[in-house]
Order: sequence, then C-alpha cells, then structure tokens
Amino acid sequence: MSEITYRDARVDDAEQIVAFYNEVGGETSYLSFEADEYPMTVSEQKDEIRSLEGNKTNRMLLAMDGDEIAGIATIHSSHKIKARHDGELGIVVAKKYQKQGIGSELIRILIDWCKGNGVTTRISLDTRADNIPAVALYMKFGFEIEGCRRNSTLLNGMYYDLYVMGMMIDEA
Ligand SMILES: CC(C)(COP(=O)(O)OP(=O)(O)OC[C@H]1O[C@@H](n2cnc3c(N)ncnc32)[C@H](O)[C@@H]1OP(=O)(O)O)[C@@H](O)C(=O)NCCC(=O)NCCS
Repeated sequence: MSEITYRDARVDDAEQIVAFYNEVGGETSYLSFEADEYPMTVSEQKDEIRSLEGNKTNRMLLAMDGDEIAGIATIHSSHKIKARHDGELGIVVAKKYQKQGIGSELIRILIDWCKGNGVTTRISLDTRADNIPAVALYMKFGFEIEGCRRNSTLLNGMYYDLYVMGMMIDEA
C-alpha cells in the first residue's frame, strides 16, 4: 500500500465509484445497500459529482491508494432553508483498508470542511446499533446517540435497530 491521499471526487471517477460501492455493498451488511444494489448508474453518479462543484453543503471525499479507491465519505444536505444546516454523513472504507486510520481521516477532513463552509452546524447519520466499529468511530469524533429506530433493518429474517446519531459543530 502506498501513501493514502484524500481528494474530492471528479466526474471521471464515476465509473470507479459505482463499482466500489457495488463491491463494498457485498463486503459488509452494515451499509443500506447490498452487493450490486448501489442506487446510482454511472451517468447519474456523473451528474451527482457535477452538482458538487462549488457546492457549499454537499461533498464527496475519496481516500485513494494510488489509482484505487480505498474509502469514500460524503456529506449530503437538503437544499431546504430549514434543513440545509444539517448534513448527513455517509462513510465506507473497503475491507482490506480498514483499521488503518482512513475512516478517521475522512471524517476529520469532512468535519473541518463543515466548520468552514458557513452553513453546516450539525452532522447527522444513522447506523446499525450493532455496528461496533462505526459507533466507536463516530463517538470518538463527538457524535452522540440521539435515538433509536427499532427494527428498522430487516435482514435474513432478523430485525436490527438503527441508532440516530448527531453532533453540533463549532464554527471555525
Ligand atoms: C466504520 C468504518 C468506516 C471505519 O473505518 P476504518 O478506516 O476502519 O476506521 P479507523 O481505522 O479510522 O478507526 C477509527 C475508529 O473506529 C473504531 N474502530 C475501528 N475498527 C474497530 C473495531 N474492529 N472494533 C471497535 N472499534 C473499531 C475505533 O474507535 C477507531 O479509533 P482508534 O483507532 O483511535 O481506536 C469501516 O469499518 C467501514 O467502512 N465499515 C463498513 C461500512 C460501514 O459500516 N459504514 C458505516 C455505516 S453507518
């Protein structure tokens, strides 16, 4: 593994991003989608990345090992005036790159960016309550468990609770 670098997604990454999500969807049951269930086509992903250019409240950050995507973290916010301060965080690090600090660095960069974008004052997310590494990672950065959506995930006949987590961020 060479040194991991962090950069924004570019339009010509779209094909690799869709392939990455479709693959990691099969590596873990903790994501909301399964293998090959990522909801965007390459063309939709390209449009999404174009919409991020100059966007103050939405961002897609890639962790790159050379030309290979090691992890992706996103902040997605509504355009609505009353909700745009609240960014939803999504994160996944490919299995072979986990436990090396990449998830932490992705979140650290996104929190710093939120502090400086002039709009975001809160970050939210949902995670399965039994996703111990993810809950520990979020708590390390100051997220709190704000609620629980019981039986919100149904997988192979088993129900799983989702934690609603959030944090307020200070302005830079
Ligand atoms: C959750 C995830 C993003 C963490 O990424 P990562 O690169 O492995 O995280 P890091 O190496 O930066 O570890 C960060 C922290 O997570 C926690 N953590 C990571 N792996 C852990 C494990 N196996 N058990 C308990 N805590 C763990 C620790 O708090 C760690 O902090 P520390 O190293 O200072 O103790 C990664 O495991 C992942 O992508 N999982 C599958 C997809 C997923 O669950 N996404 C979140 C959906 S809500």
